[in-house]
Amino acid sequence: MVRKTIIFIILIGNAFLAFSQDYLNPRLPVEVRVNDLYSRMTLEEKVGQMTQYVGLKYMQGLTSSDQMDDIENHDKKEFYPGLGVNDVIVKIKKGEIGSFLLVKGVDEANYLQNIALQSRLKIPLLIAEDAIHGHARYEGATVFPTPIGMASTFDTLLVKKIASITANEMRQTGYHWTFSPNVDVARDARWGRLGETFGEDPFLVGEMGRAMVKGYQNNELEASVLACGKHFVAGSQPLRGLNFSPMDVSERALNEIWLPPFKSIINEGVATIMAAHHDLNGVPCHANEYLLKTRLREKLGFNGFVVSDWMDVIRLHSLHKIASSQEDANRLAVNAGIDINMHGPGFFETLVAQVEEGKIPEKRIEQAVKSILRHKFRLGLFEQVLVNPSTVNLRSDTAKAIALEAAQKSMVLLKNKNKVLPLENLKQMRIFLTGPNANNQTVLGDWSARQKDDQVITIFDAFKSEQPTLDYYACGDHSNISDKDIEETRLRASESDITFLVLGDNPTRSTAVVRTSGENSDGANIDLFGRQDELIQAAYDAGKPVVVIIISGKPRAIKKAKELASAIIYAWEPGEFGGQALADIVFGRYNPSGKLPVTFPLSSGQLPAFYNHRPAAYFREYNDEPTGFLYEFGSGMHYTTVTYSNLVVDRELTNEQPVSVKFNVLNSGNLPVNETILVYVSDDYASVTTPVKSLAAFYKVELLPNETKPVEIKIPYKAFSLWNQNMERVVEKGSFTILVDDMRAVTELK
Ligand code: BGC
Repeated sequence: MVRKTIIFIILIGNAFLAFSQDYLNPRLPVEVRVNDLYSRMTLEEKVGQMTQYVGLKYMQGLTSSDQMDDIENHDKKEFYPGLGVNDVIVKIKKGEIGSFLLVKGVDEANYLQNIALQSRLKIPLLIAEDAIHGHARYEGATVFPTPIGMASTFDTLLVKKIASITANEMRQTGYHWTFSPNVDVARDARWGRLGETFGEDPFLVGEMGRAMVKGYQNNELEASVLACGKHFVAGSQPLRGLNFSPMDVSERALNEIWLPPFKSIINEGVATIMAAHHDLNGVPCHANEYLLKTRLREKLGFNGFVVSDWMDVIRLHSLHKIASSQEDANRLAVNAGIDINMHGPGFFETLVAQVEEGKIPEKRIEQAVKSILRHKFRLGLFEQVLVNPSTVNLRSDTAKAIALEAAQKSMVLLKNKNKVLPLENLKQMRIFLTGPNANNQTVLGDWSARQKDDQVITIFDAFKSEQPTLDYYACGDHSNISDKDIEETRLRASESDITFLVLGDNPTRSTAVVRTSGENSDGANIDLFGRQDELIQAAYDAGKPVVVIIISGKPRAIKKAKELASAIIYAWEPGEFGGQALADIVFGRYNPSGKLPVTFPLSSGQLPAFYNHRPAAYFREYNDEPTGFLYEFGSGMHYTTVTYSNLVVDRELTNEQPVSVKFNVLNSGNLPVNETILVYVSDDYASVTTPVKSLAAFYKVELLPNETKPVEIKIPYKAFSLWNQNMERVVEKGSFTILVDDMRAVTELK
């Protein structure tokens, strides 16, 4: 009886507590809950929300398959010097940590949340991950093509689906925040991260970014994650192509190239933004108040929260040398507009003191913390933060079908001499397959865990199931192609009817082998890495057709392939179904449809190369090699021919009204085709120099064999605008040429 009474009193007490603590009441508006919780927090708890750490397993060098059971006994204090697992646990309990990244698996996610639930205010943790092409860093999650391949599809609906599947797989496993989309505009192929981008066109990048934000954020509550637009801003044309290198950027370039994609995702409601590593015009982005306040919040209208990039706050001191101590660095960053520090000790500790001393205004803390809490409430974390490991269901049939579709649509056919592809009469053919990317997980791209072998269909797997008598030779990796590999290639190519060389890059983090692309793996030279061109030459010398397949996240100056190969497929980093998608194309079950979202220069020395250059860019020529592009933005063939005709556009441009562009498209082949229509605009004469042409719209159309479809596309008025000499965005009077395929027509603002 006494026991029952006590339980009754506890229950009443809890009910009273729930009632008295507004922030725990899900029926109240988010803003009321945020204000209530904020009013209860100590300064330490507030700064704790701005503090992120890496997960415990990562700290201890454990893998995701290591159990959490005895994590407290792993107490190496090396990753965070002097700090072990138990110290971090104490910090979570005290409310001094609000977020984690690099958490390894659902058990660890739950483990951390259970500790946070023991803290005074029970504020759930935000668990973040670089889930940039699926929840790919999670073992057993669906791995989609990397963003450059997604951009090649020009299919925003597909990309939105990829993002929403990613969000779903993240939430099922206890993660809530993806460091994606990367809306950097690709401008330098030496930069190893190009595969993380949606290419070189600011409009395309913005549209793809928007699609991802929608897919991540606009699902059912329990299947949504926070998106993070990165990296703010202009880090993707670093000096010398080296990640982190400074950028000096004009106001015009900011307005025309670097900011528009951010504007697009902010209009779509992106919840968070990540600052960029580098210094822009002499001020590191992490301490750049003009960027983080004036441009981002005031001009672009962003109202979420800003996270620093990995260790970049402390680098204000250690690398950029604009702060004489970590304490100064923290203050500069927070006062400039950084809301969460990725990651580690030293931030919380010095920040609390500096707020108390009045060096950081409490208002700044309030803005940061309320925004973080607001998003935790919106995600429903206060109601349900633990996930059920036994119901986790990754790689659903739908997810796999979308991953395959994306891989098929992303691959770009760049050459097909004498219609060597698709292969017919398979049974009679002797096929030889080799190359450093023929049979490994390079197809997954950067930002992916090593996945189980039976999850990933390599090119070898797919070809072998197509033709069991296939001749395969395992040559060395990118930096270890030997004389024997080259001789063997020549010999076996001569004994076959056709050779497939699978070349390109190795972006894989999870192997000990040399990485040739990916984050912090930049190249001074964009030719194929190592001796891969010698493989092409050797196979060609054998006198039989050679098909070159490139698995890579970035343009390579594939001059040798262009000259000698009969066919080239640029497959990007196609994800777990890469092998199957490629086989579908090679063996004629899918008509290739990808188009390049980035221009390929002829050589490293001709960088940067992009199609939307100003008129004088190629007025003069180099004296030592031909000038120009190897392949331009938008290149990409089908097995069939699509013919455009009858372009008609509105003759007159009227204020704020879209322009109608009408034409017909005909598929004159015997395979269905998924055509990407690209519509460009060129300002004939203007008060400032403008690009020779700019992508104004893109549109997908499915055409059956011999089918003609009429198409109408509306180009928004803004697509005709420019930034004038006073840096005002205006549409000037005069004529504009609209370009669709080989057709041109003129519209005019009178
Ligand atoms: C990258 C970010 C990434 C972060 C966390 C950094 O090195 O620049 O894009 O989100 O690491 O993994």
